[in-house]
Amino acid sequence: MSVRFLEEYGLFWLDTAHTSYVIKVVDEERFPGHVYYGKKIRPQDAGYLLRTEEPPFVPSRNNRERAAFYDQFPFEYGGNGVGDYRESAVAVEDENGCRATMPLFTGYEILPKKPGLPGLPATFDNDGGTLILHCGDAHLGLEVDLLFSVFEREDVIARSVIIRNAGERPLFLEKALSMSLDMDAADLELLTLHGGWGKERQIDVRPIGYGRQSVGSLRGETSHQEHPFLALKDRHADQNAGEVYGFQLVYSGNFLAQVEKSQMDSLRVVLGIHPEGFGWELAPGGEFYTPEALLTYSDQGLGGMSRAFHDVIRDHLIRSAYRDRVRPVLINNWEATYFDFNTDRLLSIAECAAKLGIEMLVMDDGWFGRREDDSTSLGDWTVNEEKLPGGLKHLVERVNALGLKFGIWIEPEMVSPDSDLYRAHPDWAIQVPGREPTRSRNQYVLDLTRQEVRDYAYGCVASVLRSANIEYVKWDMNRQLTDLGSVSLPGRRMGEFSHRYVLGVYEMQERLLRDFPDLLLENCSGGGARFDAGMLYYSPQIWCSDDTDAIERLKIQEGTALAYPLSAMGAHVSACPNHEVGRVTPFETRGYVALAGTFGYELDITGLSPEERDAIPGQVALYHRFAALIQQGDYYRIASCAENHEYDCYMVVSKDKKEALVTYVQVLARPNCRSRMIRLKGLDPDAVYLVERVERGETRLIGGDLLMEGGIALRSVPGDFRGQLLYLKADE
Ligand code: GLA
Repeated sequence: MSVRFLEEYGLFWLDTAHTSYVIKVVDEERFPGHVYYGKKIRPQDAGYLLRTEEPPFVPSRNNRERAAFYDQFPFEYGGNGVGDYRESAVAVEDENGCRATMPLFTGYEILPKKPGLPGLPATFDNDGGTLILHCGDAHLGLEVDLLFSVFEREDVIARSVIIRNAGERPLFLEKALSMSLDMDAADLELLTLHGGWGKERQIDVRPIGYGRQSVGSLRGETSHQEHPFLALKDRHADQNAGEVYGFQLVYSGNFLAQVEKSQMDSLRVVLGIHPEGFGWELAPGGEFYTPEALLTYSDQGLGGMSRAFHDVIRDHLIRSAYRDRVRPVLINNWEATYFDFNTDRLLSIAECAAKLGIEMLVMDDGWFGRREDDSTSLGDWTVNEEKLPGGLKHLVERVNALGLKFGIWIEPEMVSPDSDLYRAHPDWAIQVPGREPTRSRNQYVLDLTRQEVRDYAYGCVASVLRSANIEYVKWDMNRQLTDLGSVSLPGRRMGEFSHRYVLGVYEMQERLLRDFPDLLLENCSGGGARFDAGMLYYSPQIWCSDDTDAIERLKIQEGTALAYPLSAMGAHVSACPNHEVGRVTPFETRGYVALAGTFGYELDITGLSPEERDAIPGQVALYHRFAALIQQGDYYRIASCAENHEYDCYMVVSKDKKEALVTYVQVLARPNCRSRMIRLKGLDPDAVYLVERVERGETRLIGGDLLMEGGIALRSVPGDFRGQLLYLKADE
C-alpha cells in the first residue's frame, strides 16, 4: 500500500508511481499541515518544509501571534473565522449565527480500498489505499474527515471530505469545499478552460498575481463558460516537459476552482461546490459528503497531466459496459432535419446510412407531443403519431430491419410552459413563488429536488425505452438554472437547492443504468455545457459541442482532451457550409477530426454529393480500424492551431507502443514552403515502425528514435483545411 504513517518523522506519506504527497500534524493542538506535493521523493524527515521553526512559530511557542500562524500555516483543509484570512475550505454557522471553524487532527485510519461517496459519482478500485484524516472542531461538535485515495499507477490522488454534526446543536454549513492545497509559489501560471455555446473549453493561460483568481459556475451545471478544472504550470512547461499540477472536480453543478497568492508568496488552490448561494442544514447526526477532486502532478508537461487524467477516468470512473467497446457509428438527424421529419424521412436517412456501413440511427429532438419547434411539449414524452404513425415500436422495427440500431434524444429535466405537464403541475417548474420564472430556449427546469418530480421524469424515460428496442439515449439539458425556489426546501434550506438538483440528476441516471445496463448513454447540454468527470460516471461519452465545424472542433477537442479521454468526446462529421460558422472544409478532414472522438454523422446523408457519399464506407472502415487505439491509447499533443494558427497535430500511441496514429491538419495553406518536420512523441526509440500515409497507402520503415528526434516530413498540400493521417506499426 502506498499510504503510510512514518512513525519516526510523524509524517503521513502517500506515494504514487512518480509523485509524493506528505502531511504532518503539528503542535499540541494538532494542526494538520501540508508538507509537500510533487515529484516522488524518498521517505525522510521533510517536516521542516512547514517552516514552524521560524516566526510566527506554532501557538504553543508564540501564542501572542496565533493569528499570524493561522494566516500563514499551510493547512490541509483551512478553517474559517479564526485568523486564516485566505480562502477557507469549510465555513459553519452555529445556532447563534457565529462563524468560526478550525478543524484539528483527532486521529487517522488507513484503508486498503477507497470507500464510495453515497449519491455522488466517484472513482473506484484504486491500487494504493486510502488515508482518512479525522479532524474536528470540538467547540462546534463538528467532525471533518479528509479522505485521500491513491491511484498509484495513474499518479492521481482523489480527495473528498465528509462533514458531520456530532454535537447536539444544529449547525449550518455555508461552505464545504472538496480540497485545499497550500504550496510555495514557484514560477507558476494558471491554465483554465473557458468558452461559451459552440466554443467550449478553450485554453486560457495567465500569470498568477496576488489575491484570488478563480473560475466557477453558478448556472446549476458545469457550464459552457467555465470549467471545473485548473492546472498550475511552470512558466516554461509545455506539452512534453516541465512541472504541471492538474486539478479537476468530479461534479456537474456549481463549482469554484481557485488559486490565491498570499502576502507570503504561498499559493492556495481550492476546488469544490461554489459557496455562493450554498447552504446546508446539518442537524445533530447529519452528514455532508463533498464531491471528489482529482489531483495529479507531472514533470512531463501538460501531456503527462492529461494522460494521468485520461487513465484514471477511463479505468476508474467510467462504468458503462461500453467503456472498452468500440461504439457504433451513428447518424443523428438533428443537423439533417432539425424538427422537420417524419417516419419516411427518417427511414430514407436510415436506408442510405445502412448501405454505407453506418450502424445506428439517432432520432433527435421533435418526436414527441406537438413539438415542431422549441416552443412546446417538453415534458410530454408521448410519440407524435402524426409524424411517426404506428409509434416508436413501428419505426424502430423498420430501422432495425435495415440492420441499424436505434437511439433517441430526450430532455427529461425540462418542461415547456406550453405542455400538458406544465398545465397539470405548474409548481413542478423551478420558480420563486409569485415571480414569473425566466424562460430560456422557451423552457423551464423541473424541480428535481422533489422525489415525485424525479419519479415522474424518470418514469417517462423508462417507458420510452421499454416501448421499443432502443439501444442508445442522448440525454440533453438545454438551459441553465434560474429562479431557484422549491416547495421541498423551507426557508434557509433553499441553499441546498443547486446541489440537491445535481444529486437528483445523478439519482435518475443511476436508475437508468441499473434498469437498462446495456444502454449506451450519451450526455449532452446545449452541446458541451455538462462535459465533466461527474457525468462520465454515468455515460461513457458526452456530446462535446454544438459546433461541428472541423476547424472549430480542433480547438474544442484540444481543450477537452487536456482533461478527458478521447473515448469520451462525442464528435460527428457534418455538412458544409457548416451550420454554425458557414465554413467549407474537405469531407476527408471532417472525418479525420471526428475520428478523435466517438465517430458519427450529423447531416442529410440523402442530399450529399456522390463523392461525399462514396467516401463514407471508407471513413467507417477507418474508424473501425483505429477506434480501439484511439479509445485506449496514450494521447500526445504535438502542435496546436489555437497557438500557431497554421496547423494542428496530435497522436495516440498504444500502451505497448506497437501502434500509433498521427492526425495532422493543415489549417491554412502557405506559399513557398518546405515540408513541415513533425517530431513524434511517445514511441519506442528502439523500435522500427512501418509508417503508412493512410490516404495514399505509401509506407516506409523509420526508427522510433529518428521519428521522435528528427521527425517525419509532412508536405504542404494546396488548399486550406487539409488533413493527413499517419499510421505507425512496429515492425517485428
Ligand atoms: C441541443 C443539442 C443538439 C440538439 C438540440 C435539440 O442543442 O446539443 O445536439 O440535440 O439540443 O434541440
